[in-house]
Amino acid sequence: MNEMPAIWVRNLVYQVEGKTILKGVSLRVEQGEVVGIMGASGSGKTTLLRCISGLIRPTSGEVWIEGSDIAHLPEHEKMKVRLRLGIVFQYSALFDFLTVYENVAFGLERHRRLLRKEIDRIVSERLAWVGLDGTQKLYPSQLSGGMRKRVGLARALAIDPHIVLFDEPTSGLDPVNAYQIDQLITRLNRELGLTAVVVSHDVVSLMRTTDKIAMMEAGEIIAEGTPEAIRQSEHPKVQAFLKMASSEHLE
Ligand SMILES: Nc1ncnc2c1ncn2[C@@H]1O[C@H](COP(=O)(O)OP(=O)(O)O)[C@@H](O)[C@H]1O
Ligand SMILES: [Mg+2]
Repeated sequence: MNEMPAIWVRNLVYQVEGKTILKGVSLRVEQGEVVGIMGASGSGKTTLLRCISGLIRPTSGEVWIEGSDIAHLPEHEKMKVRLRLGIVFQYSALFDFLTVYENVAFGLERHRRLLRKEIDRIVSERLAWVGLDGTQKLYPSQLSGGMRKRVGLARALAIDPHIVLFDEPTSGLDPVNAYQIDQLITRLNRELGLTAVVVSHDVVSLMRTTDKIAMMEAGEIIAEGTPEAIRQSEHPKVQAFLKMASSEHLE
């Protein structure tokens, strides 16, 4: 593949309070790929995602987003690159004091000058896409956990991103709602042609949504491959993680 990668993380180091959280992480995500980042809690998954999204600046290393190094751009240029990224935060991170409509429109109003009618159309289209058109006037507290996650996705899609980053999209959901989110991840890739990075400790979800999985352990990527290759990996830490994850599912 000679095409420019969607995301190219090179030798990323992140230190805070004298601790090294990311210890030289490298990861390449091709355009149109769905890549999973798997690993135990505390392994550095969210920190990696925050570096990729430009929310935090790494101590060293590079984060290329479609050919721009977001880790080294001045703020105003970083904003432009960030508009190509839709971010679905853990726990959906909706504003409780805003309606569903206002939550989905939030990024639009900040970044683009649009007529109210145009915003209405985009909000209702994105909500329809996640199966929630008609919920515009509700508040997040009136929605189920699965619905809140879907509103979070509609909000991320409002700005027409090329790449969507998910942090634990299925955490706290029952299997039916988790499956619904997984279906949406697959559809946004197949129908909308978007690239996605899914950070999760939910092995079942990652196995069915991704083209490639990178396994993180203590700030490093220790294995990388197709879901099948990861499943068959002989790396003792990968095996231990998969075993632990499958026993959690039996509980
Ligand atoms: N801003 C911060 N200050 C101090 N420690 C942090 C900070 N951000 C993350 N960490 C620590 O870095 C490690 C990795 O965190 P995180 O990236 O959230 O892991 P994960 O998402 O895989 O659970 C954890 O031990 C966490 O406590
Ligand atoms: Mg996390």
